[in-house]
Amino acid sequence: METKVSAVGGDSRVITIFDTTLRDGEQAPGCSMNQAEKLEVAKRLESMGVDVIEAGFAIASPGDLASIREIARVVRGSVLASLARSVELDIDAAWEALRGAERPRIHTFIATSPIHMEYKLRMKPDEVVERAVEMVRYARKRCPDVEFSAEDASRSDPAFLCRVFTAVIEAGASTVNMPDTVGYATPNEYAALVRAVRAGTPNIGAAALSVHCHDDLGLAVANSLAAIEAGADQVECTLNGLGERAGNAALEEIVMAMRTRRDVIGARCGVDSTQIYAASRLVSAVTGVRVQPNKAIVGENAFAHESGIHQHGVLANAKTYEIMTPESIGLPRNRMVLGKHSGRHAFDERLSELGFRFDTERTARLFEAFKALADKKKTVNDRDLEALARDAAPERPEEWKLERFIINSGSTITATSAVRLVSAGRGAEARRVESVATGDGPVDACFNAIDKIVGSGATLEDYSVDSVTGGKDAQGEARVRLAREGRAYNGYGVSTDVIEASVRAYVDAINAMVAETASVDDIPATDRSA
Ligand code: KIV
Ligand code: ZN
Repeated sequence: METKVSAVGGDSRVITIFDTTLRDGEQAPGCSMNQAEKLEVAKRLESMGVDVIEAGFAIASPGDLASIREIARVVRGSVLASLARSVELDIDAAWEALRGAERPRIHTFIATSPIHMEYKLRMKPDEVVERAVEMVRYARKRCPDVEFSAEDASRSDPAFLCRVFTAVIEAGASTVNMPDTVGYATPNEYAALVRAVRAGTPNIGAAALSVHCHDDLGLAVANSLAAIEAGADQVECTLNGLGERAGNAALEEIVMAMRTRRDVIGARCGVDSTQIYAASRLVSAVTGVRVQPNKAIVGENAFAHESGIHQHGVLANAKTYEIMTPESIGLPRNRMVLGKHSGRHAFDERLSELGFRFDTERTARLFEAFKALADKKKTVNDRDLEALARDAAPERPEEWKLERFIINSGSTITATSAVRLVSAGRGAEARRVESVATGDGPVDACFNAIDKIVGSGATLEDYSVDSVTGGKDAQGEARVRLAREGRAYNGYGVSTDVIEASVRAYVDAINAMVAETASVDDIPATDRSA
C-alpha cells in the first residue's frame, strides 16, 4: 500500500495531484469521450507527472469499463483509480477494470451529510459507518490501495466525519477524501474542516488526507488551496476545470498557483507545468468544450497584453505585468506563422513546440494536410495547426471516410446533397456508398444523406461552426454532438469550406460512435453484465 503523508508547514510538502478529468470531468453534460480519446488524455496526464489518474466509473457502462481496462494496460507511471459506490457490484466492476494496472486504486464512496443519508441513502448514520467499513474491507481484499470518499463531507457533522474516517482507515483505507460535493464551502470554512479532521481522526497519520472541490460558487480552486495550506496531502482536480455542474477545481490553476505563490502556499507538486497548455487543448478538442478566452492560465487571453500601458511595461520588463511566463505552461511566446514555403523541419519543430507528439505516420499525414491548407491560405498560424492536428490525425480508427460531396442550394430551392463515403469495412472489403437527400439548407441535406448511408439511429444534439482565425480565408471548425441510448459522441472537422468542415465533423462523430460500439463488443459478455 502506498501512502503519501506530508508534514504541515515549511516548503518541503509535496502535494499528490489526483486528476479526475476522465471521471468527474466526463460526467459534465456533453463531455463524454470515447476510448481512444480517453487513452490519449490518460497518456498525456501520465507524461505530465500526474500522480493519480481517475480513469472512470467502471460500473457506469461497459464502455467505461473497457476504457479503464485499456488505460490500465497502457499507463504505467501513475496510480490508476476507478470510482465505485459502497456496494459490492461496483467494487467488483472497478477491480475487474483495474486488475491489469501496475498501480491500481479502488476509490469507493458513500455520503455522510444528514441530508444525503436521510433522503438519498435512507440510512441511519450507524448503518453508513458500517457499510463504509465493510466496503473498504471488501475493496482491500482485492486491491492494496483503497481511497474512501465521504460524499458531501463539507455539509457533514465534523465529528461524524472524523468517526467515519477513523473507522475506514482502521479497515485499510490509505486515502480519505472530504469532498465539497455541492461547491458550498468557503475557503476559511473548508480549511477549518481540514484542521478539524486532522485533529479529530486519531489514526489520520496512517492515511493521506484528500480534498475535492466543486465550483458552484466559483471557489473550487480557492478552497483547494486553503485546504492545502491547512494540511491536505492530496488535491483532486480536472483539466480546464471540467466536471459536474459548474465543474471541479482546475488542475492548471492549482499547479500554477503552487508554483507561482510557493512563498505563501508552501507546497509543490510533481506535475510538469510546461505540458499544461497542450493538455488543456487536447481536453478541449476531445470533449468539444471550448476554453473561455479569459480562463485563468489556459484561456486565449491569459497571456495577451492588449493595452498600450501594459505592452509598454512588458517590453521594458516582462515582470511588470507578467506573474508567470507563457513558456512555463508550454505556450511558445512567439506566435510563429508558417506558409507554403515552410519546410518539414520548421513544421515538425512548431508541432513539438506546441506540445504535439505524433508518430511518424501521423506527422506525415498532418504535413500533407498542412501543405494543402498552405496552398489555400496565405499564412498558417498556431491555431490553424492545432485545428489541423485534431482533424487530420485522429487517434481512433476511421470506419467511414468522406470521399466527396455535392450540394445544390439557394434561397429559392430546396437544398439537395449527394454524399459519398468510403467504409473501411472492419476487416471486410472497403466499399463506396453514395446517397442523395434533401434538407433545410445544405448542411441539413448533407447530414441527412450521411444518415441514409450509415443508419446510425443517432440524434443531433449540438452543432456549431466557428472560425479558427480571423480573415476571409480563415478555416472554419465545426463541432457535432450526436446522442444515442444516453451516450454522446463528439465529432470535429476543419476546412476553409464550412460545409465541408460540418460534413467532416458529422462523419467524425459517427466514427466515434462506431469505435465505442466496437470497443464494447471486445469485452467478454460476462464482464458486460457487471
Ligand atoms: O463530488 C464528489 O463528492 C465526488 C465523489 C464521488 C468523490 O465526485
Ligand atoms: Zn465530484
